[in-house]
Amino acid sequence: MKKMNVLVVGSGGREHALAWKIKKSRWCGKLFVAPGNAGTAEIAENVPIGVNEIPKLIEFAKKNRIGLTVVGPEEPLKNGIVDQFQKAKRRIFGPTAQAALLETSKSFAKDFMRKASIPTAEFKVFYNYELAIEYLKKLPEKPLVIKADGLAAGKGAFVCKTKAEAEQVINDLLLKKTLKEAGETIIIEEFLEGQEVSALALCDGCSFLLLPTSQDHKHLNDGDQGPMTGGMGAIAPVPWIHLGDLEDISDTIFKPALRVMADMGTPFQGCLYAGLMMTKDGPKVLEFNVRFGDPETEVILPLVNGTDFLELLARCADGRLGSLAELPYLLANPEESAACVVLASGGYPGPYDKGLPINLGRKPDGAWTPWGGEVFHAGTAIRDGQLVTNGGRVMVATMAQPVLMKAVSRAYTLAQCVRFPGMYFRNDIGRKALDHS
Ligand code: AMP
Ligand code: GLY
Repeated sequence: MKKMNVLVVGSGGREHALAWKIKKSRWCGKLFVAPGNAGTAEIAENVPIGVNEIPKLIEFAKKNRIGLTVVGPEEPLKNGIVDQFQKAKRRIFGPTAQAALLETSKSFAKDFMRKASIPTAEFKVFYNYELAIEYLKKLPEKPLVIKADGLAAGKGAFVCKTKAEAEQVINDLLLKKTLKEAGETIIIEEFLEGQEVSALALCDGCSFLLLPTSQDHKHLNDGDQGPMTGGMGAIAPVPWIHLGDLEDISDTIFKPALRVMADMGTPFQGCLYAGLMMTKDGPKVLEFNVRFGDPETEVILPLVNGTDFLELLARCADGRLGSLAELPYLLANPEESAACVVLASGGYPGPYDKGLPINLGRKPDGAWTPWGGEVFHAGTAIRDGQLVTNGGRVMVATMAQPVLMKAVSRAYTLAQCVRFPGMYFRNDIGRKALDHS
């Protein structure tokens, strides 16, 4: 391995955390983030190119001798950023558009899981309103889930307590087209009971390395109430997931997923994220994502120690995770736990103001608290020299500590170092995991 310049594509908390981790690598030369945010500007050079301006990103990578490009969000993956970089002979971490179908088309993912015998909820796919309603009428009266096929920014899954509710959702998606083309195909799915866990693995096309498990908190309010968001906080690792569970997750999900993707001629290279329901019958996949999770990345990366993270990414891109993948639990057994609290704009996930001034209570020596911690930026910008809000999820206060309970309480101390008008956060991040264990 040689020192290399690195380009991270994206502008959220996930990308700030990726850049922060990559910057610590001994192989990291110049670090760029496109387009980045006010936080990435402190540790890297922000490049004013949008995530979907693929030809411009390739040109930038060539001009600046970028040794590895790391893609954060799903949209450029769907748009073929990896295919186009590879065609231009530029090294890039992430799946091709075809492999990204695991996230970008839920019906593809469900058919794939059936083919690979990966445990998932029972389901049926529909394009036609009458057929969907006919099927619904035959189902027993119990909760079920309706999902839009396409990308819907986390708003495409509807948990319905009754068949009447489900009928309304089918009507909205297939007749009223409330999610436009993303909802032209729908999935009617069995409701699974259990706790949700995110399992992420670095994949090189045939081997994989499981990262510490994590748990997101997707609802806006405490007690998992209120609307769904992009994620309001996370913890890692999930304290009640043991080695046996990791083996199950590895054997029943990641191994067949990588094998069947390779057999289909679309090997998966990048970060494969399995959103799992841990049911009484074992782990079942709710969804695949083809990228790092946000805010999961913010709690996972502080725990990845003892291995050079940039080297892992570069090895994945080269298809040679090799001997590192023989230790699938190396990274899954950290001696620390981490928690993060998302600081959101008032009104999120609905409409909210931007451009509000942010005050950071950072100590003069640069430390946030006596115990360290990181405040990753998500929706932030600098306007006229002032740090301001620029998105729904504004900042992510992250703390790693030897025990989860301390990580949680100190993440909250850290969260309170930040102030901006209307700032909102959940007060119960980590409680579910602590109660369960
Ligand atoms: P998805 O977009 O598929 O991850 O779904 C979003 C959320 O809906 C998940 O995080 C779960 O909380 C919930 N969900 C999705 N599918 C199911 C299911 N089959 N059973 C229970 N809850 C589900
Ligand atoms: N935390 C959920 C996601 O990244 O999709």
